[in-house]
Amino acid sequence: MNKVPYSAEHDLSCIGSLDELKEMALACSRCGLRAECSNVVFGEGNPTARLMLIGEGPGAEEDRLGRPFAGKAGQLLDQILGAIGLERFEHTYIANVVKCRPPGNRAPRPEEARQCLPWLYRQIELLSPSLIVLLGGTALQNLVDPHAKITKARGQWLHSKSGIKIIPTYHPAALLRDPGKKRPVWEDFQKVRDEYISIVNG
Ligand code: URA
Repeated sequence: MNKVPYSAEHDLSCIGSLDELKEMALACSRCGLRAECSNVVFGEGNPTARLMLIGEGPGAEEDRLGRPFAGKAGQLLDQILGAIGLERFEHTYIANVVKCRPPGNRAPRPEEARQCLPWLYRQIELLSPSLIVLLGGTALQNLVDPHAKITKARGQWLHSKSGIKIIPTYHPAALLRDPGKKRPVWEDFQKVRDEYISIVNG
């Protein structure tokens, strides 16, 4: 993963719990997105899950409900997880690159992501997952390499310095637009399932 983008004025390393981090993130207005959205979508799931999923940013439904992947892409994600025997609230924790909805569902701008990423990095540290699935190019580019292409990087395991195994795949919303992406995503999630099983079985 990229170097943790903490700046002195946004050092969250002293925040010792997810609840405390959430409370602070909900009060954040470091970028212009907060002024235009209804809810800060911190993330949700099982805080002891071995598997973390990271998307791009909240859409309209997520903004309305304050929950990640609550709309159509989320329903598809639930089906994909179900197909590999996992249930989102029991087996995963889900968050996004940015916690506030970019207007019109545009991708977050680099400066917006830069301001928001410290929340996600501290979230990852506190959750300490074994596996991370990056859902789509925005997550890949913001967490791994700004020049990476999801078409090339998907389906290949990467390793963070802290030992987390990371796999990029297409975003579920991309599957809704292009059913041709279903097969590669299925192949990628089979890899996730195999790795997950080997981790939980020790
Ligand atoms: N797309 C995302 O990237 N994240 C969400 O939470 C919902 C849709």
